[in-house]
Amino acid sequence: MLALTDDLLKIQLPPVDPERPYSRNMIGLSEQCEIMLARWNPGFECAPHDHGKSGGYVLYLSGEFVETQYTRVDDGLMAVGSRTISAGTLIHIEPGEIHSCHAVGDGVSLHVYSPPIDGMLVYDLKNKEVLKVSSAAGAWCPQPENLILSRMHL
Ligand SMILES: [Fe+2]
Repeated sequence: MLALTDDLLKIQLPPVDPERPYSRNMIGLSEQCEIMLARWNPGFECAPHDHGKSGGYVLYLSGEFVETQYTRVDDGLMAVGSRTISAGTLIHIEPGEIHSCHAVGDGVSLHVYSPPIDGMLVYDLKNKEVLKVSSAAGAWCPQPENLILSRMHL
């Protein structure tokens, strides 16, 4: 049986993406769940997003992070809380939960969602839009735009 050791995770670590809040490596995918390793780009905040109908866990492996939680209101999104998260912290993600996150410095996180995320909503606050994005996209306004499945007014 293969264990998720430090060395194995280091081998799987994607390079930092200078254009995006984090780079992704889907290290496990089945009909039941997905396991994704994220390497964060310091100072870039991901867009507020949900996780489709999926729930799961995020284990912060290294670095320090700030997470903001949101709720839908009539004219958009409202931030309802914020917390600092240090390495070693495991958080639970409820289906429908909306949050954003940024790494204060270098950071790595391991994400497990069940079922695999499908139809994640990304909130584009600048353009007041909600984007339903492909499972190949992360929590940002995707480029190329063909990763956007549909757009709604926020
Ligand atoms: Fe998330």
